[in-house]
Amino acid sequence: MISQKMIETIRADFALAWHGIHGFLHWQCVYNNGLRLAERTGAKVAVVELFAFLHDSKRVSNSRDPEHGARAAAFARSLRGTLITLDAADFELLAYACAYHTAGLTEADVTVQTCWDADRLDLGRCDIIPQPDRLCTGAAKDPAMIQWAVQQSMATPYVHEDR
Ligand SMILES: [Fe+2]
Repeated sequence: MISQKMIETIRADFALAWHGIHGFLHWQCVYNNGLRLAERTGAKVAVVELFAFLHDSKRVSNSRDPEHGARAAAFARSLRGTLITLDAADFELLAYACAYHTAGLTEADVTVQTCWDADRLDLGRCDIIPQPDRLCTGAAKDPAMIQWAVQQSMATPYVHEDR
């Protein structure tokens, strides 16, 4: 569960449109994808949930912004012990997943893979059908999962902004 306080803390410093393609609606879709995947992958749900709401929280552009993952990891570290109470090993999974989520990697701990897949499965919001060879887990590559995620993306009322 992500607390209201966590959402308010993220929103207070979020630079882009709240309902834009890298904002709250996307994080909710990633969250839904992640929970669905975790049932099959065995990923650590607490890490997947936090990843969903943090990984793009420090983006300053909807296009190229190569450092936003590292900034998200640093932001997560700043919340450790207050809003984030993961143990050390789980926290490092979260930080790694955030830092490298746009590096195009597919090999990692299964919890990290589940985070990355949950994000990539929401590419339908940008009219991109997620490609199995870019996904990490068998659960995400399942055509039924891809179809479910694309339908969710299409049904989500994203606001497209110019930055
Ligand atoms: Fe994302």
